[in-house]
Amino acid sequence: MDKDENFVIEVEHLWKIFSGCVKDIDVTDHSSLARAEEEGAVAAVRDVSFKVKKGKVFVIMGLSGSGKSTLIRCVLRLVEPTAGRIIVSGEEVTSMNKQQLTDFRRRRAAMVFQHYGLLPHRTVWENVSFGLKLRGVSREERREKAQEVIEKVGLVGWENHYPSQLSGGMQQRVGIARALVQDTDVLLMDEPFSGLDPLIRSEMQDELLRLQNEFNKTVIFVTHDLNEALRLGDQMAVMKEGVIVQAGTPQEIVTQPVDEYVERFVQDERRVADILEKEEKYSGIKVVDSGKSKTRKIRAIGIVRGDKVVP
Ligand SMILES: Nc1ncnc2c1ncn2[C@@H]1O[C@H](COP(=O)(O)OP(=O)(O)OP(=O)(O)O)[C@@H](O)[C@H]1O
Ligand SMILES: [Mg+2]
Repeated sequence: MDKDENFVIEVEHLWKIFSGCVKDIDVTDHSSLARAEEEGAVAAVRDVSFKVKKGKVFVIMGLSGSGKSTLIRCVLRLVEPTAGRIIVSGEEVTSMNKQQLTDFRRRRAAMVFQHYGLLPHRTVWENVSFGLKLRGVSREERREKAQEVIEKVGLVGWENHYPSQLSGGMQQRVGIARALVQDTDVLLMDEPFSGLDPLIRSEMQDELLRLQNEFNKTVIFVTHDLNEALRLGDQMAVMKEGVIVQAGTPQEIVTQPVDEYVERFVQDERRVADILEKEEKYSGIKVVDSGKSKTRKIRAIGIVRGDKVVP
């Protein structure tokens, strides 16, 4: 392990096979795996490895069903990995016992779910502060901390409402507040902004970037949206059928897609160029195409972060 690099999340040769009634699958044995798949097992994550440095945002993209949610859930062992190792802040999650795992989930890593995952019979305030209650935080402190993040996500006035009384976008914001209040170093976000309308979505992205500057969290962020990936991601991986087909900086992936599948995510250069032109952050970016009609691609792209342009 490269200790100097200060990696907070390390995933090594991770596999998740939803095997149903198929037993004894050896992931290192191709024929055993192929047989299991013929019998209906689904290899949702296949031999995935990546590392995320402290304070960085690792974005995962990929078509529906490519294994993004399964992968991110494995990090907390909400889905039990079939094989491989997961290390978070130097602790091996894959070897934790039940008690250690519970403690890890409460204190070290918070998750925002794709479909909210709220407690339906609890109010916004109770949903947001629930994790703190489990940790034994006093009622007064819970109220104070919950109120702070409720303000951050723009839900003041809704504290005593139940999830069913909120729009999808508002429920998603409760999910985000619930993760932020935990004040963990690691944040796992599964399409957290997909239910939000564009304006709120953009505001939430700003908020996440602001939080990043302030708190330097280490984030895994799943999205379908290239604009979001470019705005938020320091590193990016594209998944296909359980495999990471390409990993690198967003710029590398946009400029040098390894195959047609990846290209599909990045091919619409006009759209990207429009996005880039609109974004003040991206001023100074060059979008240069090769000029050959059918094979036009973005050849150069840079992202302005603070006062630096990342090529
Ligand atoms: N509990 C489960 N049991 C069996 N198969 C599952 C289970 N959960 C997911 N899968 C399968 O694993 C594969 C990956 O699913 P996953 O939800 O991780 O995809 P995803 O990339 O998050 O998709 P989306 O973009 O639609 O959210 C799919 O083929 C799915 O059917
Ligand atoms: Mg998903």
